[in-house]
Amino acid sequence: MEQIFSGIQPTGNLHLGNYLGAIRNFVALQDSYECIYCIVDLHAITQWQEPDELRRNTREVTAAFIASGIDPAKNVIFHQSGNPNHAELAWIFNCVARLGWLNRMTQFKDKVGKNREAASVGLYAYPNLMAADILAYKATHVPVGEDQKQHLELCRDIAQKFNNDFKIDLFPLIEPLILGPATRVMSLRDGAAKMSKSDPSDNSRINLTDDSDAIAKKFRRARTDPDALPSEPGGLEGRPEAANLVGIYAALSGCTVPDALRDIGGMQFSQFKPRLAEIAVAVLGPIGAEMQRLMADTAYIDTVLRDGAARARALSEPVLAQVFDVVGFVRS
Ligand code: AMP
Ligand code: TRP
Repeated sequence: MEQIFSGIQPTGNLHLGNYLGAIRNFVALQDSYECIYCIVDLHAITQWQEPDELRRNTREVTAAFIASGIDPAKNVIFHQSGNPNHAELAWIFNCVARLGWLNRMTQFKDKVGKNREAASVGLYAYPNLMAADILAYKATHVPVGEDQKQHLELCRDIAQKFNNDFKIDLFPLIEPLILGPATRVMSLRDGAAKMSKSDPSDNSRINLTDDSDAIAKKFRRARTDPDALPSEPGGLEGRPEAANLVGIYAALSGCTVPDALRDIGGMQFSQFKPRLAEIAVAVLGPIGAEMQRLMADTAYIDTVLRDGAARARALSEPVLAQVFDVVGFVRS
């Protein structure tokens, strides 16, 4: 049976990349599957988080899920710390994954830069916890943005080594679902950098909670080149900023890049940018407004998380019992 699982870190500044690369696909998948969507607070604390901010951001991601159209009755929405099975399975995976595998993780290298010695052990072991998130439910399909591909390959390696070590076909080999024309949304200020929650420049990203003026202003200021838009995708080669804005436009319009270019090819950026802003406001405006409304109702958000965590635990407990058995832990 197919089981969908994905997670988002409650680290603030949810942005258009999170929406197009992940959340929008989460919404679409609920029509065909029962899905598990997790707000990964244990992952968030691999880098310093102010406690009150962490709580607020956890509720904000929950609000973003619901405001975007994920039905909390049909799917399981919960916070990672609400189900201790994730951390328990992660410990076992710490003992399955090899140092050499983790040393190859590019996201760790990007995050620590030259300051490797000062990084938390949790940040290093981050992909093992991510594998535990997924495999605690024997999930088979994981919708994510492009940047998570390497972590998902590691998850497959862990599943395979566990199965081999214990000579049992227990964990599935998961499939990444990297969907749509905007799987890697780039910064509006630099076509070579990913749009990111942690970019110090707020102008580099469109936040889900930005109002229409902020959205229009950020697109107006977005970096571009002097040429008009091409009418074929080949004309976007070597033009990362143009390719990024066209990819965003296509994703927001629900069409492909070639289709979008048939429509907007030949336009100058001065003409295209207001059009892009208009469609972004049409898609994100209602989501931002609904997020604000939900954020004012903390009691409701917390009920969703509590209920989701109880359902998540019920789903993962049989898997953990099986794993404990296989590993050789005495069952008390
Ligand atoms: P994070 O904010 O790192 O927890 O990411 C949550 C989800 O959003 C993951 O599936 C990421 O792959 C996706 N994501 C993050 N940034 C981007 C981006 N710039 N473009 C596309 N997807 C993204
Ligand atoms: N590492 C992911 C990110 O930063 C978040 C994440 C944690 C996740 N656990 C997961 C994504 C399990 C998919 C499945 O984007």
